[in-house]
Amino acid sequence: MTKAPLLSLRGLGIRFGGLVAVDEVNLDLPHGHITCIIGPNGAGKSTLFNLITGIYKPTSGQVVLNGETITALAPHKIAAKGIARTFQSSRLFEDLSILDNVIIGMHARTKTGVLTALLLPWISRRELEACATEAGDILNRISPELYARRYEPAGILPQADRRRLEIARALASHPKLILLDEPSSGMDDRDTAGLMADIRRVMADTPGLSFLIIEHDMRLVAELPDDVIVIDYGKKIAEGDFAEVRLLPRVQQAYLGQKAVENA
Ligand SMILES: Nc1ncnc2c1ncn2[C@@H]1O[C@H](COP(=O)(O)OP(=O)(O)O)[C@@H](O)[C@H]1O
Ligand SMILES: [Mg+2]
Repeated sequence: MTKAPLLSLRGLGIRFGGLVAVDEVNLDLPHGHITCIIGPNGAGKSTLFNLITGIYKPTSGQVVLNGETITALAPHKIAAKGIARTFQSSRLFEDLSILDNVIIGMHARTKTGVLTALLLPWISRRELEACATEAGDILNRISPELYARRYEPAGILPQADRRRLEIARALASHPKLILLDEPSSGMDDRDTAGLMADIRRVMADTPGLSFLIIEHDMRLVAELPDDVIVIDYGKKIAEGDFAEVRLLPRVQQAYLGQKAVENA
C-alpha cells in the first residue's frame, strides 16, 4: 500500500523584490522519515521553513499536509495542524522554568491556551496541572537530567541543553512533523552525537513522526537522515542518499570554496 505523503510542496516559491529566495520547490516527505536539507549560506533553506510554517506567504505554489492545503493558514493554525519547529537562534523564555518552556509548546493544541493559563492561573488550574504532568513526561523522555532540573530557569542552560529543551517544546504540541533549523550549531562532536541519539529516540517512540532538518554538520548529514535535499539559489538541485548526492558535480559546484561536502 502506498501512503499519501505527510508533506508535499508544490512549486513553492517566494521572491523579495528582485531576489527569488525560494524557486519552484517540489518535495514529498513520507511519514516516519528523517530528511536533511543542505546547501550553501543564503541558499533559501530558512526561508523554505518560513514558507512551510506560514511566517511568509509564498508568491507561488502550495504547501499540503496530509492531503490538506495549508498554504493560506496563519502560523498558529499550521502549528495546530501538526507542524512544529525550532529556529536557527535559540528562542527560549529565559526567565521561565525549563518545565514552563515545555508547557508553552502545548499552546498550539490546548483549549484555554497555555499562555493565558500561565498569565491568569485561576482560569484553568486543572488544565495547567495536566499540562505540567505531560510536559514533565516529555522532558524526561528527552533528558532525565533536564527533568531533574525542571524548576530552574531555562536561561542558565548551556547550548546543547537549550536545543534539547527546544525539541521537547516542539514535541509538546504533538506534531506530525518537526522542522529543526541548524540544530547542531554551536555544538561540539559529543553534543552532536547526543543530538542524533535524541532524535533517533524520539523517532522510535513516536510512530509516523517525521523530521526535516537544515544542517551544516556533514557528519550528522552523513549519518542521521534517510535522505537529503540540496538547495542552491532557492532551487532544489538534488535529492536522495547523501553518499550519492554529495558526489554529483552540481552539488560539488554549489559548495565550491566551502569544502564541507567533499570532506564528509
Ligand atoms: N524577509 C526577507 N526580506 C528580504 N530578503 C530575505 C528575507 N528573508 C530572507 N531573505 C533573503 O533570502 C535569501 C535566503 O536566505 P535564507 O533562507 O536565510 O538562507 P539560508 O537559510 O539557506 O542560509 C538570502 O539572500 C536572504 O537575504
Ligand atoms: Mg538559514
